[in-house]
Formats: sequence, structure tokens, C-alpha cells
Amino acid sequence: MATTLIGALERELAGRRAAGLHRARRTLASAQGPRVVVDGVPLLAFASNDYLGLANDPALVAAACEGAHRWGTGAGASHLVCGHQAPHAALEEALAACAGPCEGARALLMSSGYLANLAILTALAGRGDAVFADRLNHACLNDGALLARADLVRYPHLDVDALARRLAASRARRKLIATDAVFSMDGDLAPLPRLLDLAEEHDAWLVVDDAHGFGVLGGGRGSVRAAGLTSERIVVMGTLGKAAGVAGAFVAAHPAVVDTIVQTARPYVYTTAAPALLACALLAALDVLRGGGGDRRRARLSALVERFRAGAAQLPWTLLPSSTPIQALVTGTSDSAVALSNALLARGVLVPAIRPPTVPEGTARLRVSLSAAHDAADVDRLLDALRGAAG
Ligand SMILES: Cc1ncc(COP(=O)(O)O)c(C=O)c1O
Repeated sequence: MATTLIGALERELAGRRAAGLHRARRTLASAQGPRVVVDGVPLLAFASNDYLGLANDPALVAAACEGAHRWGTGAGASHLVCGHQAPHAALEEALAACAGPCEGARALLMSSGYLANLAILTALAGRGDAVFADRLNHACLNDGALLARADLVRYPHLDVDALARRLAASRARRKLIATDAVFSMDGDLAPLPRLLDLAEEHDAWLVVDDAHGFGVLGGGRGSVRAAGLTSERIVVMGTLGKAAGVAGAFVAAHPAVVDTIVQTARPYVYTTAAPALLACALLAALDVLRGGGGDRRRARLSALVERFRAGAAQLPWTLLPSSTPIQALVTGTSDSAVALSNALLARGVLVPAIRPPTVPEGTARLRVSLSAAHDAADVDRLLDALRGAAG
């Protein structure tokens, strides 16, 4: 006999199922890559954020193994206690040089992008301050503003004029503009130069979440470098579990920002450091990202994006504008997105349906993500499956 507490949860879960919003995990019986095995069934996948195909790259795997032999499996403590090991320090230096947004920038490793955004926002904003956020920002930027107890002021997607009006009307003590650089469910780009102009005009911080740009744009150095911007008021957050193929995240910013996070940000201070073996794998990933191998992977990825867009433009669903590996086909209702995803699954192709609240009501979609590990024939097979599902 379920308690009333359990009963209440079960009613809520049943409501989710009835609304087509219930989410289920798939267990992969394979490493990440274009070809995965789910429930014993081999599938061609366009679902991960492994944009450069590094998540199962032999050089990274070898570096992780060597790292485990040299440094063990666990960091054993938070960075401030005694979990900060030499590979963490080396990786921070390399990341600062690669993606720092200003002269003398430093980088700080975090265990995840989610925690990194919480750390940045709580370190730079508090009660009486205001965080100005694009309406399509990732949830963790909004959660950071809430945790900081700052006012969260959202502006319509990419609408710089609306942002300017909100900034001008604000009486907040400190102002912070927060934006995804590449929007995670749409794949389009934030107008970073114009956002920096506004940040300068209003003496605000500009926090750039480059989860989907780092490794892919700007020769791998990310969206801020791609836009040619440098400023002490820019704080970059890059994730290391997407294009970089491993796990974790970093903040790259002026040393005063980094030190403030180290001193004050609870999502940094009160959590165990990621294992050093991951830092070893990430040092190997950076070698690829910044080198000719990275350029070749990015060129291949761009060609696959173009191939997909040329084919998808003929389909009955709305293909959102995007030059990045994130390609969204909007179907509308949650049911229609799930039905299309299932129709592809029946054809051996895995593309996730993305539903509210992750995307706005009425814009449920398939989120196709392309990887340099795909080839042209994979993209053609996806397009055939979509044509078949369109009937
Ligand atoms: C835009 C954006 N920011 C932050 C994150 C969080 O990063 P992580 O998965 O490393 O926690 C994600 C995705 O997970 C993301 O898409």
C-alpha cells in the first residue's frame, strides 16, 4: 500500500505520461559515437554533443589510462583542500591560453558546466543585482541567477534592442548579461559583439556560455575568439564533455574573477575535484582541438552540416537557421516530435525529441546533432529516414 507521499508522486508522473512529457533514459551498450547499441539494437545516432568525435578517440583513451596509472582514479578532495593535482593545473594553463577572453586571463576547472554557471553567477551577482538573460538560455544560467538571489530579467531571443531597454530601465546595483553563445536547442548564435557594446555602455559583465562553441568555433578556441572579442568584462564558460570529448567545464576570465570564484563560489568550493585522469585526457583533447587534426574535423563537420541542411530544407518540418552542428527540425506538438523520433527509430536512426519545458510550448522538435565522426553516407541515411517518415 503506497503512502500518500508516493501516491502524490505517482499521480504527477501519470499526468506527465498523459501529456506526452514523460522522459525515459536509454542505456547504451556501446561507447559514444555515431553507431550505438541500445537494447541490443544497433542504431545510427545523431543525438550526442560529441561534435568532433573525441569521446572515444584512442589518443584520449590512452591519455586517460596513463593518467589513471600515474594519478589514480580519484582526486580525493576538493581543489581547495588537497584535490588539486598537477594535471589540473596544467590543463587550467592550457585552457587560459586557448580560450581566455583578455590579456593575462586565467582558467578554472569545474566538475560540470551546470556547476560552472552556478559558480560564475553566484560569485558575480547577489541580492539587488540583475541578471539579463536571453529567453532561450540554458536552464543552468537561469538557475545561477536564482541561486544568486539576483533579479532575473529575461529578454526575447536575440533581441538586442529589448535588452538595451531593460538595461536602461534597471536600477540594479550590478548588472550582468548572460547568454548562450550557441543556443543549445536551436543552434543559432548570440550577437556577441553587440552584447559586449551594451555591456560596456552599462558597465555590465558579459557571461558567455560557450558549451556548444568551444572546440567547434574560432579554430576550436570558441565563440568569443571567433568573434574577435577581448575584454576584461567577458567571462567565458566552456564545457569539456561536449566537443572536447571528456567531462567537466572551465571558466576563463580576468584573474580577479577567477580568484573571486575560488574564494566565494560554493559550487566550486564544496565539491570534490574531478579525477586527474580526466585532466590528462583533456590535455590530449586540447592537442587535437588546437592542431591540424582539429581543423580537419571541423572542416568535415561543416561539410556535413551543409549536406544535412540542403536535404532537410525539402522536408515538411521547419528547419531552424543554424550553421552549427545543432540542427533543429520543429514539428510543433510534443506528440508529433515523439512520433517522428519513433518513426526514425523504427528505421534504425536515433534522433531525440526535445519537448517543453526544454523548448517553448508549441516548438517541440527533433534535435539533430552532427559529429565529425559521421560521414556523408550517414547523413544521407538520416535524410532518407526522414523522407520515409514524412510519408
Ligand atoms: C548551453 C549549455 N550550458 C551548460 C550546459 C551544462 O554543461 P554540463 O553538461 O557540463 O553540466 C549545457 C549542457 O549540458 C548546455 O547546453
